[in-house]
Amino acid sequence: MPDKINAYLVQGGNSLKGEVLVSGAKNAATKQLVAALLSDEPVILHNVPQIGDVSATIEMLEGLGVKVTVDGSTVTVDPRTLNTSQVSEALSRKNRIPVLLMGPLIHRFGEASIPALGGCKIGPRPIDIHLAGLEKMGAEVSEGDGYYKAKCKKLKAAMIELRFPSVMATETLILAAAKAKGTTVITNAAVEPEILDTAKLLQSMGAIINLETNRTWVIQGVERLGGAEHSVIPDRIEAASFGIAAALTKGSIFVRDARQDDLLSFLNAIRRVGVPFKVEKDGILFGHADEYHPVVLETDTHPGFMTDWQQPFVMLLTQAKGVSIVHETIFEDRFGYTEALVKMGANIQLHSDCLGSKECRFKHQNFLHSCIISGPTPLKSADICIPDLRAGFSYLLAALMADGESRVTGVELIERGYADIIGKLQTLGAKINVE
Ligand code: EPU
Repeated sequence: MPDKINAYLVQGGNSLKGEVLVSGAKNAATKQLVAALLSDEPVILHNVPQIGDVSATIEMLEGLGVKVTVDGSTVTVDPRTLNTSQVSEALSRKNRIPVLLMGPLIHRFGEASIPALGGCKIGPRPIDIHLAGLEKMGAEVSEGDGYYKAKCKKLKAAMIELRFPSVMATETLILAAAKAKGTTVITNAAVEPEILDTAKLLQSMGAIINLETNRTWVIQGVERLGGAEHSVIPDRIEAASFGIAAALTKGSIFVRDARQDDLLSFLNAIRRVGVPFKVEKDGILFGHADEYHPVVLETDTHPGFMTDWQQPFVMLLTQAKGVSIVHETIFEDRFGYTEALVKMGANIQLHSDCLGSKECRFKHQNFLHSCIISGPTPLKSADICIPDLRAGFSYLLAALMADGESRVTGVELIERGYADIIGKLQTLGAKINVE
């Protein structure tokens, strides 16, 4: 393999067959690396995926003085040497994780400074919900010169109702509440399985945290958190991605460690499309059918159909016989990637109306957040550039199905979130070279 990969050269037309092991969840592992800073002893995490976003998070923690030891998929975070409350832009590599440091840094230093956030370009992605919650907990928050700053001698508990069940705002506030004075109640909160997994780590570290009915987290702040050992849950986005790869390449893939618990709405959706699957003790076996059926679907917060499954699912619908609709209700600008698929032969139209069965908060705002897909359409190979992480996997799927060789660039975006993606696809029989 070359040191730096510029492109994947993907030969389409091969069925993917065999077994693949799902790695640990990106959106749990990166948060848990930060949660470890609340401790005053080392925290050991197992099943941490070897992906770009984990490396970037580790580099950021090391830049703050934290000692991090990586041994394969086991990462030990020793927060005792944490020595600064200032996260510089150079340290953050422009992903979205720095905002989670607000609580842990305020607890340690009484202040925190983090740079404006990066991450996938799928909408404006403000952090007002995070900041409003921290203010309710007593932090004095300011913004300027590309940095967010927060100050507070001791965070105090609060009753916080989120304007929208944001995943990372919920996590920011849980981390802030874990050692705040008193009991914090967060309502209309996000309840994604990755958040529950982080709550489990916090509980092992000594936190008192409970998920109650109606999207409510209740966190009784404690004085100190200690060391713990925790295994990150398998990545349900990666699991779903391989399931669709089996269906689209007319293959059969046993996705080891895929968990039915975390894939309920995904499995219902693909069953409606006609993709066969069998839930087994250690994973899920995905197959293919000769014909797929169109569906109408909206993305939603958990337990709904997640927005990160939308991109491979749209690829699947390009091969369904008839007209399908996908209404994206989480991010206002998450269909830009379809333009390249249309050039490859897909029949996809974008609309700003809320198509599907319900209206969403993007109604009348001119965001192209509904998508009509007519199929089935064969795809032609092409040169395509990945615009964001999840679109990246659907481009790989498109290339794997197309006639001839496609050249896929922008691959560092996919490597941010999928561990050894090329190795795994090659093991399943994909013909992919790197350049
Ligand atoms: N929002 C606000 N204000 C805020 C926070 C969010 O208006 O303060 C809005 C966003 O603009 C968006 C909606 O709320 O329209 C949902 O955003 P959310 O905050 O839930 O997203 P996130 O926490 O930034 C995480 C994942 C995303 C995943 C979303 C939704 C991480 C690092 N990222 O983002 O994952 O799509 O939740 O489930 O956990 C990915 O893995 O590729 C990815 C983009």
